[in-house]
Amino acid sequence: MTSVYTMDEPDERNRLDAMAQGVIGKPLDRLEGPLKVSGKATYAAEYRIPNCVEGVLVTATIARGQVTAIDDEAVLQMPGVIAVLSDDRMTARAAQGGAGKSPVRKVRDVQYYGQPVALVVAKTFEQARHAAKHLRIRYREEPDPLVDPEDERATFEPFEDPTVQGDLEQAMDAAAHAVDVVYTTEGHNSAAMEPHASIAEWDGKTLTLHSSLQMLRFNRKELADALGLDADNVRLVSPYVGGGFGSKLGISPEGAAASVAAITLKRPVRVVLLRQQVFQCIMRRSETRQRLRLAADAEGRLTGFGHEAWVSNLPEEEFAEPVLQASEFLYPGDDRKLDLEVTRIHRVTAGSVRAPGEAVGMQALEGAMDELALAMEIDPVELRLRNIPERHPTLDIPYSSRKLEECLRKGAERFDWDGADRTPCMKREGDWWIGTGMATATRVHNLNKAEARVTFRADGSVEVASDMTDIGTGTYTVLQQIAAEMLGVDPGRVEVHLGDTDFPPGSGSGGSWGAASTGSAVFQACEGIRSKLAAKLGCAEDELTLKDGHAVTGNRRIAIADLLEDEALTEHARFKPGKITEAFAAAMYGAFFAEVAVNVYSGEVRVRRFTGAFSMGRVLNAKTATSQCMGGMVWGIGSALTEELAFDHRDGHIVNPDLAEYHVPVNLDVPHLDVLLVEERDPAGSPLQAKGVGELGICGAAGAIANAIHHACGVRVRSFPITPDEVL
Ligand code: MOS
Repeated sequence: MTSVYTMDEPDERNRLDAMAQGVIGKPLDRLEGPLKVSGKATYAAEYRIPNCVEGVLVTATIARGQVTAIDDEAVLQMPGVIAVLSDDRMTARAAQGGAGKSPVRKVRDVQYYGQPVALVVAKTFEQARHAAKHLRIRYREEPDPLVDPEDERATFEPFEDPTVQGDLEQAMDAAAHAVDVVYTTEGHNSAAMEPHASIAEWDGKTLTLHSSLQMLRFNRKELADALGLDADNVRLVSPYVGGGFGSKLGISPEGAAASVAAITLKRPVRVVLLRQQVFQCIMRRSETRQRLRLAADAEGRLTGFGHEAWVSNLPEEEFAEPVLQASEFLYPGDDRKLDLEVTRIHRVTAGSVRAPGEAVGMQALEGAMDELALAMEIDPVELRLRNIPERHPTLDIPYSSRKLEECLRKGAERFDWDGADRTPCMKREGDWWIGTGMATATRVHNLNKAEARVTFRADGSVEVASDMTDIGTGTYTVLQQIAAEMLGVDPGRVEVHLGDTDFPPGSGSGGSWGAASTGSAVFQACEGIRSKLAAKLGCAEDELTLKDGHAVTGNRRIAIADLLEDEALTEHARFKPGKITEAFAAAMYGAFFAEVAVNVYSGEVRVRRFTGAFSMGRVLNAKTATSQCMGGMVWGIGSALTEELAFDHRDGHIVNPDLAEYHVPVNLDVPHLDVLLVEERDPAGSPLQAKGVGELGICGAAGAIANAIHHACGVRVRSFPITPDEVL
């Protein structure tokens, strides 16, 4: 049976709390954890496929121009080399900004340094890599390519219609207190541990691609599109993904190249990106320049709010870092101006990286809010509390559940926050200035359509299937918990199968929508099964209790296996977000509190304590939700202090394209992270009353650290990352 549910209105039923099994929200361990730590979880590159050969991509060494020739003769003589392929299907660039939204581009011209231009295939990886290094590509190079947003030739165009309401200039003039500041952030790379990797198999009709991807339902179409195949003849397999952070939202060049090679050579081909290629040819987060104007009345209530941002991308790309996303709804101010502009430059595609928009938008906004609190001499927590608007400031729609105030208060209490006197340079321990800072967290809540199939087997075990991915976030486990709760079985009796387009299309993982969206489809399928069981018992569904493998209604208690009478029940659910997404401003909220030490002589910054209080609707698993928040806070430390893509100003190549030189925080950079989950149910968030959690922990985190640095040593740094030279 297939059921379709479109969520148009809040779901107030609070079904999960009414269930009897009691596993939802519990901090269960990740069910695939033992497979991962024992090496039994097979990642994309790890399938052993007979007759498989190895491909290594060759990337462009010019910023802009055309490939005029590929001199492959010498390379083809090298040991083990089978073929050199170059084909515009291979260099297809897909939808990096938001899966499925823009068409696959077949690129012939070179548009950035690092763009894939050829694939060398050999018997072994070493042979292919060696030959790839020696492949000579001839180019017609366009002189003086525009590769830098600070180049005086760079022009910025509005990315979409700006939000303009009232008169911001006048509000700034009339304000009792005002802040007008410019913040900048540098480019970022998603930096997932598992590099992009694919193995393609072709049987003459159907292409099977083992690949590391986030969004299979879209990726299947993208790949079919790039290759000129029918999507029905493309199967993607991606059960385990070693991190995505946006970089695996769209198909990546190694998957397209492996596919073309497998079809051409009629044998399986594996292509794994070198770490440097992950930086050079996947995508970046755009650098940003942001002007923030905050106008407040004498009580600190915002009357005017301005946020303008300048970002970059390649020509024709349909994505621009959505810097203003939180500024649309977080704070009041009748006089508003929000404007995002983009310039077109020849650097690797800009796309979605770890909370696109809020990650960098909030760190700047929360810095500016700290500056306003300081100018007014009030506690920055108090400033936030005075600026929680009643309704969306421009759309005039209500908020869904919003526990921002609770997060601010509970986080402050947990951290032992003292915001009374924010005068800098008041505390010193030896060679270190000590300071504290705080920031608000927020991230929009996204829902996506999703399908799932649930089978209650005759032996009382359950099977859940969807092409949904688990990118290290805990999807397997939360889907297991939802099914176990709804069907009254032990979680150990629920098998979850994900990451294969042979299963019903799930929501994929991205934009923090995975658990709430695919979880809702699983929930809905389980509701269908419950109705059928109730019908068998002749009772209404809400008179049915499922617990410990038994169905209970009135004074009857029957083992599920007996009730099923050797016949499995299967439900296929299609969940769709409908009008609900327009009716409410739905978002997740939180508050960060950080303590830093700044070295008096070197300017080195150490984060000493870091607390985050978060609300995200219903928590589906307290452990995986906490871990997601921690991960976000770690990213926040990177964004605050170390992460920065450095581009060569002549040709736009990335000069630090590996994890030795692009510095993500490591264990010693990260203190104990104190995460507090604030209880919430959001009926407008999803039928589960859950919202997203994946990206919330980064959204504002770096702002709290920057504000703590100012409190410690009195230096206000408005350019992220805050490196020692800027602190001194
Ligand atoms: Mo996310 S950066 O939308 O995978």
